[in-house]
Amino acid sequence: MDLTTVSKKIEIGNVTINSCVSLSPLAGITDFVLRQLIREYSKNCLLTTEMISSEALVQKPECNISYTNNKESPIAFQIEGHKPELMAKAAKILEKKASIIDINMGCPIKKIVNGNDGCSLMKNPQLAKDIVLAVKEAVNIPVTCKFRLGWSQDSKNFIEFAQLMQEAGASAITVHARTRAQMYSGNADWSELAKLKGEIDIPYFANGDIISPETAKKCLEISKADGIAVGRASMGDLSLIYRIEKFLNEGILIPEPDLKERIKMLRKHLDFQIAFRGEETGIKFFRKFYPSYIRNIRKGAEYRHSLITELNYNNILKILDEVSLNA
Ligand SMILES: Cc1cc2nc3c(=O)[nH]c(=O)nc-3n(C[C@H](O)[C@H](O)[C@H](O)COP(=O)(O)O)c2cc1C
Repeated sequence: MDLTTVSKKIEIGNVTINSCVSLSPLAGITDFVLRQLIREYSKNCLLTTEMISSEALVQKPECNISYTNNKESPIAFQIEGHKPELMAKAAKILEKKASIIDINMGCPIKKIVNGNDGCSLMKNPQLAKDIVLAVKEAVNIPVTCKFRLGWSQDSKNFIEFAQLMQEAGASAITVHARTRAQMYSGNADWSELAKLKGEIDIPYFANGDIISPETAKKCLEISKADGIAVGRASMGDLSLIYRIEKFLNEGILIPEPDLKERIKMLRKHLDFQIAFRGEETGIKFFRKFYPSYIRNIRKGAEYRHSLITELNYNNILKILDEVSLNA
């Protein structure tokens, strides 16, 4: 693919995204803090919140999980649930904060699919359609959907499903190129997504296993998608989406941050978590991020263990200094 053919903007309904990269939602990860830090690098990408339970939100509209500020725009707020009227109410609550409402139809975890939410909606396309219709009716901003290739290898219905969501009024879709049965195993099959080309008129984002500017380009080539959504690899490299945009738009390959830079990012991320959640909760919440920042180094497992079990802020900084020195 010639890099000059990469679309520099994507129209999602009446919202223009001046980038073809979006941050894929990650529950417990893509919170206000991580999104702010990614936005410092990438001014134009589409940010997405972690999934927000429609039931919980309707019961308690002012919760931490939906916190945002005006620097985040453009931002999609993702809601999760299976009751059209509750999903519509949740979307209405979020409408003022959001550029876009995204509907989760791809989450594979048992607790979610057993409650008829997430990817189980791919087994009930009519209900999925009713949800999109209800949400569309409730809000004046674009509505998008995120789903997988299908429930299992022998029930891949993403093409018909995408067409149905478009018919219901979805303005764009993101497809994780795995089935629910695969969960996160094996490789994302980007070539499957190319089958969407010509079958729908709305833009589609390809998702799964994009870990670098080079894989982003390869994924766009193979999937023929309009854009890409980057999830797990954003952990441990706050600049990844920016580096991808720079490569796709200008052909400039910025090297991935070395350990010293990653530790600088880590410290900023940790400090921001503490400022957002308070010291004790912030430090505990942050434990899940150490493995992504402290990787591929000598004594890495030992350092990670010390960091994860340490609750004292100054001691954490001492361990980080030691990691830097030994790098
Ligand atoms: C810890 C974790 C949390 C996730 N949370 C969400 C979520 O809230 N909503 C959603 O649509 N997908 C969620 N996903 C799926 C990701 O958005 C993405 O589709 C998947 O990880 C594949 O993309 P990646 O290889 O770039 O991470 C989650 C994945 C992980 C690993």
